[in-house]
Amino acid sequence: MITGKYPNLRLRRSRKYAWSRKLVQENTLSYSDLILPIFLIEGKNKKESIKSMPNVFRYSVDKLHIVVGKAIKKGIPMVALFPYTSKKKKDENGSEALNPDNLVCRGIKFIKKKFKNKIGIMCDVALDPYTSHGHDGLLKKKNILNDKTVEILAKQAVLQAKMGCDVIAPSDMMDGRIGKIRSALDKNNLKDIQILSYAVKFSSSFYGPFRDAVGSKRLLKGDKKTYQMDFRNSDETLREVSLDIKEGADMVMVKPGMPYLDIIKKVKDNFKIPVFAYQVSGEYSLIMNGINKKLIDKDSIKETLISFKRAGANSIVTYFADQINL
Ligand code: PBG
Repeated sequence: MITGKYPNLRLRRSRKYAWSRKLVQENTLSYSDLILPIFLIEGKNKKESIKSMPNVFRYSVDKLHIVVGKAIKKGIPMVALFPYTSKKKKDENGSEALNPDNLVCRGIKFIKKKFKNKIGIMCDVALDPYTSHGHDGLLKKKNILNDKTVEILAKQAVLQAKMGCDVIAPSDMMDGRIGKIRSALDKNNLKDIQILSYAVKFSSSFYGPFRDAVGSKRLLKGDKKTYQMDFRNSDETLREVSLDIKEGADMVMVKPGMPYLDIIKKVKDNFKIPVFAYQVSGEYSLIMNGINKKLIDKDSIKETLISFKRAGANSIVTYFADQINL
């Protein structure tokens, strides 16, 4: 496949000028590739900084038009909503997840009322922002109950969709939840609601700052290794993805991002479906701290985002979405 040799062939020729480099570039990055996560907080007129995530904020619902408006202006196609739930609203069963007046529901309604379908809204389906133990599912005698959790998740998904959420994103890693959520949506005449499955979600140390941002970090009992994947595994990701496709997932997510570029490529090569990558909070904060300490420059952000495109990702969830200039 590769022909020619030095000195006839000099690869530096096409690198000589910026215009020439542009012509031969194999991957590009634009705002259309990005999804912006937004953290929500109770109250009014609030924009609260998050200690573990420099430059990322929690917004009260009434301030959402500012951050979402900016995202629309830039051409970012979708935002992802995550709630910081106060401790007094959390319980063993995460019942706040099913409260039609919870933060996420109010956030969805506010955005849809103001911006209609100018931007997509994606919501996590999982119980961890709402449980007093910080797990994504029901906990009984140190066990996460799969099937009982899935029943609640299906209700949570239907509720979010009824409020106006466009893309349901189960991030809980329970078995069989995509199928149950799909049929619950269909039964409720929500056939057009898309499902973006976090099909490949590893049990990772890189979620630390996020757990701080949604207020589950100090509450979390133990770890999530009985449901999130072992980061030593690769073939298992194909089993997860194939199950979720059969159950009705429209797109799949690989998460975290940078340590798992091989997985993004593998999934994309094996299934010709939309694959999304999540550059998670720990990745974000590491890069941001490096930039703030002047260890690396800002171009490092684009370099990481392009790496996802090169690996085969269609879109990237990233806290940098509204911070970079493209
Ligand atoms: C919870 C959830 C997590 C993230 C998104 N949804 C954390 C976890 O599973 O503990 C992590 C996102 C990030 O770190 O940016 N279901």
